[in-house]
Amino acid sequence: MLKILNGNPFESNEECLIVGLFEKPEKFTGILEQLDDIFDGELTELVKSGDISAKYKSVNIIHSLGKSNVKRIVFVGLGKEKDASYTKLKDVFGSASKKLVGMRLSNLAIALDTFVSEKASEDEAALAFSEAYIMGSYRFQDYKQKSNEPEIKIETIKIFTNASEDEIKLAAEVGSFYGEGTNSARTLVNLPGNMLKASDLAQYAKTLGEKHSFEVEILNKDEIEKLGMGAFLAVNQGSSEPPYMIVLKYQGKDEWKDVIGLVGKGITFDTGGYSIKPKDGIVGMKTDMGGAAAVLGAMEIIGNLRPKQNVVAVIPTTDNMISGNAFKPDDVITSFSGKTIEVLNTDAEGRLVLADAITYAKHHGADYLVDVATLTGGVIVALGLDKTGALTNDEALFEKVLEASSEVGEFIWRLPYTEKDKERVRSSKVADLNNSPGREGHAIMGGAFIGEFVEDTPWVHLDIAGTATINADHDLGPAGATGVMARTLALFVENFDLEKE
Ligand code: BES
Ligand code: MN
Ligand code: ZN
Repeated sequence: MLKILNGNPFESNEECLIVGLFEKPEKFTGILEQLDDIFDGELTELVKSGDISAKYKSVNIIHSLGKSNVKRIVFVGLGKEKDASYTKLKDVFGSASKKLVGMRLSNLAIALDTFVSEKASEDEAALAFSEAYIMGSYRFQDYKQKSNEPEIKIETIKIFTNASEDEIKLAAEVGSFYGEGTNSARTLVNLPGNMLKASDLAQYAKTLGEKHSFEVEILNKDEIEKLGMGAFLAVNQGSSEPPYMIVLKYQGKDEWKDVIGLVGKGITFDTGGYSIKPKDGIVGMKTDMGGAAAVLGAMEIIGNLRPKQNVVAVIPTTDNMISGNAFKPDDVITSFSGKTIEVLNTDAEGRLVLADAITYAKHHGADYLVDVATLTGGVIVALGLDKTGALTNDEALFEKVLEASSEVGEFIWRLPYTEKDKERVRSSKVADLNNSPGREGHAIMGGAFIGEFVEDTPWVHLDIAGTATINADHDLGPAGATGVMARTLALFVENFDLEKE
């Protein structure tokens, strides 16, 4: 629980007080000056001698030995003030929170104003702290019998500041919504395929929708068949688990107009189907619903923030399996839009389920579309593991997504999308489209295929195959799912201001 207070942090009796320290301040002011006094000038000495370092991301803990009510002071290095940035501040808070988790504390306090600089106001520091603290201390509960020691959760966090308590409370709350929405997305992605089937994802979405009073529509297999979503059904054909088309509507405006459609790939496990993946390529494919998780994480944030926007989230969910019933290369299928598709590769399944989801989002009135998907290995070859690939048919809309992504610190890079690319997905002897025009530029081909169903609606495609997971622990969380794009999508929605002519 977060408490915002204007009082003196040294008089509170928390187990530790977090204090930020910039390199080489001319002289200590505010809280740091008080602290120096409490320790009879020793703080200045410890900083001079390097026992307490102000280097970016260093953490030094000293015991107050009864000189103040707070038991320990945790000094967090902020580096040089001129190099400070909002994103770096989040990284600092994230890395510090991981150390704090290791200390098994049940409460803590933070001297917020010591983190303020020209690059981050009190509000921003509060938002950054709560978001990064929640993300940095995220853990996915494993399934080991002799599991982790029982977790000691920090029950109260007191934020001390001279700024307005109400304003800081609001900012910290917004940060916690962002952090929690991201962590929810992470958990969905980390869950193994046998524990998160399409029906589980549908149930999760329903519960989320009820909690935030969204309008919830979940199409079952019969309904999907009746509507003729042949592309989505083809992917599900080999599975013993039924598919679901999840729709959540959030209406923040009086009328259902200027609707933002968020579409997320929800493949709960991707074997590749008959175009089967090599054995090393299959491992990890429980994460193929990362786009769905990002959309659901964003919807959780939106449900908490309740911006004056209209959003429809559409998530097609199924696994991609093999059986006597499974779809095959050479099959020709008819999508919900009526466009026919020659299946050249059953492992290019994401674009098939998204095709019908995009069309369905348009049926629900989407005026703008953003799709998120772990779509191609090609995007990893092109951009590496830390950049989300983007494609767009609308400069202005892309700018908005890019702005949001850079503010939250999630890197996006745009790939080209030309008439030639469109021609390649349209080249089939037997159908309107083919789902796999070959390896060259295939991250672009994945997006271009989806673009055929978007048509003229302003649209941004985000390929998160590289960024949905991470191999090593990082400042804002552990190895595993990142929850990438949950925050970008939510901020994009919050700030959205394009008017359709
Ligand atoms: N789910 C995969 C993409 C993927 C790869 C996600 C690695 C995460 C990590 C997708 O369905 C797929 O198999 N894509 C193929 C497309 C190809 C057959 C055109 C790929 O990228 O190889
Ligand atoms: Mn695949
Ligand atoms: Zn896939």
